[in-house]
Amino acid sequence: MNLKNATALVTGGSSGIGYSIAKVLIEAGAQVAITGRDEKKLYKAAESLKAVAIRADVANEADVQRTYREVLQAFAHLDILVNNAGFGVFNKLVDMDRSSFDAVFATNVTGAMLMTREAAKHFIQRNTGNIVNICSTASLRGSANGTAYYASKFALRGMTECWRTELRQHNIRVFLINPSEVLTNFGTAAGFAQKENPTKLRGEDIAHMIKAVLEMDDRGFTPELTIFATNPKD
Ligand SMILES: NC(=O)c1ccc[n+]([C@@H]2O[C@H](COP(=O)([O-])OP(=O)(O)OC[C@H]3O[C@@H](n4cnc5c(N)ncnc54)[C@H](OP(=O)(O)O)[C@@H]3O)[C@@H](O)[C@H]2O)c1
Repeated sequence: MNLKNATALVTGGSSGIGYSIAKVLIEAGAQVAITGRDEKKLYKAAESLKAVAIRADVANEADVQRTYREVLQAFAHLDILVNNAGFGVFNKLVDMDRSSFDAVFATNVTGAMLMTREAAKHFIQRNTGNIVNICSTASLRGSANGTAYYASKFALRGMTECWRTELRQHNIRVFLINPSEVLTNFGTAAGFAQKENPTKLRGEDIAHMIKAVLEMDDRGFTPELTIFATNPKD
């Protein structure tokens, strides 16, 4: 696809990987809307990106419906949905509380499903569209303390495979992107420090790869892309 004059919606575009994706798409000539819950952070990011800001929680169905009303009001049509909003809770199984487990699934799984359901209705009508799911290497194998986060990313991988099978006949490309550790606000939000090191991945590395896979001619697509740091040091 040609990203010039394309339109994109990036959930969780106010920070980290989502911010970098929005930036790269805008630099390629696309019009981009970003979402997030924290209004101050969202408007600051949108101003620096020159993106459309939509304050919305992906886990809230009314917010999701309003997001599409605002996107279509701003751009008239949508070409790309990037399901990026997400967070992690990392606890031993024996310390796992129900509400944190449910909250991770509400955003990372239910939120992605709600956003994609609405995008799919629009894409099927147009007989074209792109869905990019920001998953994780956490969707590839389990880990201690990973009950909530890893399981949510396994679920996102499962939904991605279902959507790909279901939507291909409508010329809709569904991509799964698995970054390994990326330096963002993710660790702080989960209550641990990510150590800064030049060997670790940045949001811009992930964004660069997403731009590359989207730009392939619409006759083809890369179903899944896993991105490792070459030799990350703590
Ligand atoms: N960093 C890593 O090492 C890494 C590795 C692999 C995959 N990932 C995935 O990459 C994605 C982005 O994470 P990041 O590392 O860029 O973290 P981040 O810097 O914390 O960004 C997360 C973004 O998602 C938004 N968000 C969170 N919950 C939301 C909700 N319910 N509704 C709408 N927006 C929501 C946040 O804004 P608000 O809090 O204001 O809503 C923020 O804009 C996540 O899906 C994460 O699982 C990250």
